[in-house]
Amino acid sequence: MPSGPRIAVLASGNGSNMQAIAEACTTGNIPAEIALVLANVEEAGVLKRAATLGIPHTCLPHGAFSSRGAFDQALGEKIRQADCDLVVLAGFMRILTADFVRQYCGSLLNIHPSLLPKYPGLNTHQRAIDAGDSHAGASVHFVIPELDAGPVIIQAAVAIDESDDATRLAQKVAQREHEIYPRAVRWWVEGRLELREGIAWKDGRPIDDNRLTEPTDAEGQRRNTVAS
Ligand code: GAR
Repeated sequence: MPSGPRIAVLASGNGSNMQAIAEACTTGNIPAEIALVLANVEEAGVLKRAATLGIPHTCLPHGAFSSRGAFDQALGEKIRQADCDLVVLAGFMRILTADFVRQYCGSLLNIHPSLLPKYPGLNTHQRAIDAGDSHAGASVHFVIPELDAGPVIIQAAVAIDESDDATRLAQKVAQREHEIYPRAVRWWVEGRLELREGIAWKDGRPIDDNRLTEPTDAEGQRRNTVAS
């Protein structure tokens, strides 16, 4: 029987990150369960994936709400009804109100397809290619009211090859996302992560920029940046 913290995954699209986290819960790599998958788009592939995996799922179409605040209130209600401890944004393409974000402060994670602080917002891979960057990547971070600006927990970098277009790069980065997002969720579930005074902490130490680029940790495993 699954046990441990209960996770809500909010998504708008395909749901491959949700599936990676769900599989890690099934194998016990993440000692928790996804208690709710919520999409804001009826056709979102994440809902089909959740159905196949036997995970409770629902759609809350944002168009049915008169304001961003009303939508976020309904969202909060669904998460409370499912009795969730952690909220994981996995391709959730909605800007959340500051009220919602503050309510889940420290328990709200996001994955963003760039090496933050580079390229917050949209079209991240094309922007990295256009800038002539050598690497693209993804970042898992705590969510704060400012968009894509919360403290980073873990990043994965991938080399940009000359032949890469944005689609190919997105595929390469997605593979790394499926590695780092379950890892960050596991850290949270194990009580190793904290958001304090605007800083992300792991194992009682601040995760700073230097630490993000260190290749190994005390356990001899790759730590916060996973480069290909
Ligand atoms: C992921 O690449 C994630 O980084 C991105 O959406 C994709 C969702 O894929 N998130 C954002 O762009 C958030 N601003 P998935 O539905 O297959 O997990």
